[in-house]
Amino acid sequence: MITVERLSFTYPDGTKALRNVSLSIHSGESAGIIGANGAGKSTLVNHINGWLIPQSGSMTVDGIKCLKTNQETLRQKVGLVFQNPDDQLFMSSLFDDIMFGPDNLGIPREKSEAEAERLLREFGLWELREKPPSRLSQGQKRFAAFAGVLVMHPSVLVMDEPTSDLDPRNRKKLISLVSSLSSTKITVSHDLDFIWDTCRKVFIMNNGQIKAQGPAREILVNETLLEDNGLELPLRLQR
Ligand SMILES: Nc1ncnc2c1ncn2[C@@H]1O[C@H](COP(=O)(O)OP(=O)(O)OP(=O)(O)O)[C@@H](O)[C@H]1O
Ligand SMILES: [Mg+2]
Repeated sequence: MITVERLSFTYPDGTKALRNVSLSIHSGESAGIIGANGAGKSTLVNHINGWLIPQSGSMTVDGIKCLKTNQETLRQKVGLVFQNPDDQLFMSSLFDDIMFGPDNLGIPREKSEAEAERLLREFGLWELREKPPSRLSQGQKRFAAFAGVLVMHPSVLVMDEPTSDLDPRNRKKLISLVSSLSSTKITVSHDLDFIWDTCRKVFIMNNGQIKAQGPAREILVNETLLEDNGLELPLRLQR
């Protein structure tokens, strides 16, 4: 269970990015967070593994407070695929990047190497394993960041714009992969068709606040609500 209570966050330059956000997401649930550019979506989800620390209010994952002191525990539980893969990939080879998390946790190499290989093959990246991640294409980086998170088998998977940079076939591959995972899932995306396919519940953010929440298939068909929040109907529902 993820609980956010009256969470506010202001960046050092004075930008108020979150204003009193409260929400809860049950274990095993698949939730989408949508909203226009600058609504505060990334700021919100970047609190979940301790990357950002609440300035006021709180966030907890299964009762564990999202605080610096709990970062280690949180990172074993929560996998966050950042909006920008360059924030995530920093080792000198793709393979080392995937192994970084498991090595840090002291997982036996035989076990984690086999899992890393399985994921890299699944994402079509196995042949590229010796390459520095910085030399991968954008879509390859996106999948590499995913592999680095999935290799840890997180019980909560958070994805920030997972489909950006993916070609149509790889986008479909991601839909089936995400749908097959039983973890709690939080997806931030402008791709409302992806949200339609993978999320049961949706939160709309606007100007640092939660403006609406409900079943995905009620929120995503509500054209007026979407437009009021700077959004448009999913492509499949557009005339
Ligand atoms: N490092 C930062 N320093 C100052 N302001 C920031 C910083 N990062 C984000 N902001 C501001 O905080 C607000 C929320 O940004 P955030 O990245 O959370 O939005 P978002 O909903 O994820 O947008 P997008 O859909 O474009 O990814 C914006 O006004 C943005 O300009
Ligand atoms: Mg963002």
